[in-house]
Amino acid sequence: MLHPPELEHLHRPDPDAKPVVELRNVSAGYSGAPVLNGVDLKIMPGDFVGLLGPSGSGKTTLLRTILGAVPVQDGELKVHNTPLRARRASAGYVPQLETIDWNFPVTVEEVVMMGRTMSNAWFPWFRKQERELAHDMMERLGIGNLGKRHIRQLSGGQQQRVFLARALVSSPELLLLDEPTAGVDVKTRDDVMHLLHDLNHAGVTIIMSTHEINTVAVHLPRIVCLNGSIVADGPPNRVISPHILWEVYGAEMPVIQYHGMPMVAESAHFWIDRNGGEPLATVPDDSHREPILSHTHPTGDNVPAHHHHQDASD
Ligand SMILES: Nc1ncnc2c1ncn2[C@@H]1O[C@H](COP(=O)(O)OP(=O)(O)OP(=O)(O)O)[C@@H](O)[C@H]1O
Ligand SMILES: [Mg+2]
Repeated sequence: MLHPPELEHLHRPDPDAKPVVELRNVSAGYSGAPVLNGVDLKIMPGDFVGLLGPSGSGKTTLLRTILGAVPVQDGELKVHNTPLRARRASAGYVPQLETIDWNFPVTVEEVVMMGRTMSNAWFPWFRKQERELAHDMMERLGIGNLGKRHIRQLSGGQQQRVFLARALVSSPELLLLDEPTAGVDVKTRDDVMHLLHDLNHAGVTIIMSTHEINTVAVHLPRIVCLNGSIVADGPPNRVISPHILWEVYGAEMPVIQYHGMPMVAESAHFWIDRNGGEPLATVPDDSHREPILSHTHPTGDNVPAHHHHQDASD
């Protein structure tokens, strides 16, 4: 589970392998100025990459660009060695909970089935098998008894697992997870991380964004730091340093060593001005987001409530 430095070589990818995802000098974003600028990134088969960066740094945008849901404005993006067009089906995606429309009338079972029926819309007789597969996955994730509930009637951790189940029933080779452990308790977070490790050992390539620096420092062999472009990319021992964290978050974060692994004594859950480094007094325009969970969204477990960016928007 842990990745002390001497084990890092076990995760070194095969030098002859072709990248699963390759971005070359990619600029991407929405209308107007790009959010991502000059991003160079190679994700190799079997990689398990933690994506760090402050709020607004483009983590969600990067994951959605790889999915083909955000337009590439400049540069080149290849997924499975193919220029990206309609390749969305080959990647499983677990969206950030804050971006989901919770008013959409849909049950847990229906959400999980979405991961499957899309690819087999023409073969209705597969439905029974598909439903069994969906139920197996839900059992495995501990949400087997929640199938008939509306997705809104679940705890944050249960919701995370519903969307994880949806991504997993399609047996993806590439799994893109947007803050899969945000707002869940320590035990659930550990369960999710163990499950992801099992999947990774079974050959699934994983990229997950998170604000939990210590979770990625302890669990993952490779960390990519983003702030509009890639600020750092490497193993935790190289990336988790006060100097790099300052560059990424614009905040001073003491790093201590624990059993040979770097740990940050404080997490950066606040808005940072990209250029200046001073925390912003006001929150950037966030009106495009779905206003969900705003009053129930739990704070990070080791962060005082007033430091969490959700609170800044209240
Ligand atoms: N659909 C959209 N249309 C226009 N701008 C957007 C859209 N989604 C995000 N943005 C903007 O792009 C920038 C990057 O947003 P993104 O969601 O990728 O950040 P993030 O790193 O995922 O942040 P967080 O940690 O808060 O989830 C922000 O300035 C945001 O306001
Ligand atoms: Mg995000």
